[in-house]
Amino acid sequence: MIKGIIFDLDGVIVSTDEYHYQGWQQLADEEGIEFNREINERLRGVSRMESLGILLEKATKEYSEEEKIEMATRKNNIYRNLLKNITPADILPGVMDLLNELKKKGIKMAIGSSSKNTPVILERIRMDTFFDAVADGNDIRNSKPDPEVFLLAATRLSIPAEECLVVEDAEAGVSAALNARMKVLAVGSASKDKRAHLRAADLTEVTAEELLMMN
Ligand code: BG6
Ligand code: MG
Repeated sequence: MIKGIIFDLDGVIVSTDEYHYQGWQQLADEEGIEFNREINERLRGVSRMESLGILLEKATKEYSEEEKIEMATRKNNIYRNLLKNITPADILPGVMDLLNELKKKGIKMAIGSSSKNTPVILERIRMDTFFDAVADGNDIRNSKPDPEVFLLAATRLSIPAEECLVVEDAEAGVSAALNARMKVLAVGSASKDKRAHLRAADLTEVTAEELLMMN
């Protein structure tokens, strides 16, 4: 039986993914590095520094550690500026209905995100007190596909991993959930991932009953 549900944040609860893309694209343009939406797909669920590593695969020169930190900071500053536009209206379709239904049924819910910006995003969408637990990029050493963030979220919910379901939009996130031995619902960009136990284009397509029946 599913007793706890762990939601990824970016691309599952809220559409910050376009702002991540814009931040990386601007950085790549400033550095004269080839970048596009296809490469951007590989950054979903991956930490900031690892994302930079993927972007730098197309670089024509070597960058020092100091330069890499400056570039990641520059991207984050662009991203943080764009985040000022986020409001509760950016919560993705079906999210609030599903979450409220789950809450009524007494299901414990957590956020499990690689993002260090999780607290600021939750505040902007006025969901900073909604979840029973939050585990994010500030708490972990290894980002998805490592299961660390989901295992920490389960611990914080006091629910065994086998009784948790993860909702993810990233291939790396689906891998992380499977590595944690959790069930996984893949949505959005990950909705074609056959490894997931359940798949949907978005959360308007799933009901609380359907999720809780998974075993
Ligand atoms: C994930 C996003 O949620 O967070 C990734 O899917 C992003 O694209 C990662 O790189 C880290 O985010 P941040 O906000 O710490 O730079
Ligand atoms: Mg995501």
